[in-house]
Amino acid sequence: MSLHQYIRDIQDFPKEGIIFKDITPLLSSPEGTNECLALLINSLKGKKIDKVVGVESRGFFFATLLAHELNVGFVPVRKPKKLPFTTISASYKLEYGTDTLEIHTDAIKKGDRVLIHDDVLASGGTAQAVCELVDKLGGEIVQCNFLMELSYLNGRAKLGNHEIFAAMTYGADDKLHV
Ligand code: PRP
Ligand code: MG
Repeated sequence: MSLHQYIRDIQDFPKEGIIFKDITPLLSSPEGTNECLALLINSLKGKKIDKVVGVESRGFFFATLLAHELNVGFVPVRKPKKLPFTTISASYKLEYGTDTLEIHTDAIKKGDRVLIHDDVLASGGTAQAVCELVDKLGGEIVQCNFLMELSYLNGRAKLGNHEIFAAMTYGADDKLHV
C-alpha cells in the first residue's frame, strides 16, 4: 500500500494558501513507520554509514530510527543556541530573512560516512546548510534522505551531486506545503 495514505493534508496551515503535509498519522502508525523505515533502509543497501545526521525538529523522528536500524550514532543538527558544546553554524535563506543551523564540532570525524535525514525536501535550503556543516567537519555525505520530496520546488538543484532519496514524492499538482 502507498505510504501517501499516512500523510494528512491540512489546508491553510501555518498560513492561508499553504497545504501542510502532516506526518503525524505516519508516526502514529507502526505499520506505516515500519514500511517507511524499510524503504529508506533499502535505499542504502551496500553503503557503509558511520553517522546519521538528523535535522531539528521534524527530522529527528526518523533519523533516530535510522541510526538505530543501522546500528550507528545519531547526530543532531539544531537551531541556534540549543547545542551546549562548541558548534559551527551555517545559514540559509528563507522567503523573508535567513535561518541558521548548528552542529557540535566533535560530532563528525574527518572521513566519517554520513547519512543526512530530514522529513521534507522543499526548496532545499535546509538540506544545503546541513551538507555545508557536514562538509566543514570533513564528513563524506553518502546520501541525503527524506520522508518526502516536493519535487516541483527543485530542492535537488541545491544539493549538487549528492545522492538523494525520498520515500514519497509530491508533484506539481500539490500547492506549496512544507
Ligand atoms: C521544514 C521541514 C524541513 C524544511 C524543508 O522545517 O521540516 O526541515 O522545512 O524546507 P526547505 O527544503 O525549503 O529548506 P522547519 O524549518 O519548518 O522546522 P521544523 O522541522 O522544526 O518544523
Ligand atoms: Mg524541519
